[in-house]
Amino acid sequence: MHESLFIALEGGDAAGTTTHCHLLKGFLESKGFKVYLTQEPSSNKIGILVREFLKNKDIPPTTDALLFAADRDLHYRNEIKKKLDEGYIVISDRYIESSIVYQSVQSDNISVDWVKEINKFVGLPDITIILDIDPKIALARKETEELEKFEVSSFLNKVRNLYLTRAKDENYYIISSDDIIEIVQDKIQTLVINKLKNLS
Ligand code: TYD
Repeated sequence: MHESLFIALEGGDAAGTTTHCHLLKGFLESKGFKVYLTQEPSSNKIGILVREFLKNKDIPPTTDALLFAADRDLHYRNEIKKKLDEGYIVISDRYIESSIVYQSVQSDNISVDWVKEINKFVGLPDITIILDIDPKIALARKETEELEKFEVSSFLNKVRNLYLTRAKDENYYIISSDDIIEIVQDKIQTLVINKLKNLS
């Protein structure tokens, strides 16, 4: 009835990508689709290392960028591509746009083009959805006291602006995540179902 589809959910910290990925998976499964949910940093060894580095302010942004790219390379080859080939809808909680945005806003040495270059061997999503959130709301939603290095208001503002610019340039979908979960999820589901209808 349908071909495989690769969906990436993106957005600033606490935009709710994880919650919405899970809800979307449940919704699509209830419609009879085979769904594979994954996330980045991934669960492979590089992904685990990257997650450790998120707490460490001494890791240079260039190292972060290279490791995120290595993690993605392995993640795409060993997991995502295989599942797409088996006819699954793959939902990734963050993907290449996270690197383009988060790594390039951190250093003048890191250009969008360089991040694209080091990520050029992976397949791109069919749909990229940016969950847009006001950083003030995002930080208020955070319960933990120990913030990761990327969770500072000025940084999140830069992240938000670049996501919005990228969305315009690349025709990504933008959905406001300032609303309640049900409304946001409903918009995501409508978008994905329409895309699936166009494929069949
Ligand atoms: P995570 O705990 O998964 O946060 P969230 O639930 O908000 O996604 O941490 C992922 C963090 O890593 C997040 O701050 C974004 C950052 N990140 C990058 O900087 N580059 C990347 O390529 C990816 C995938 C994530």
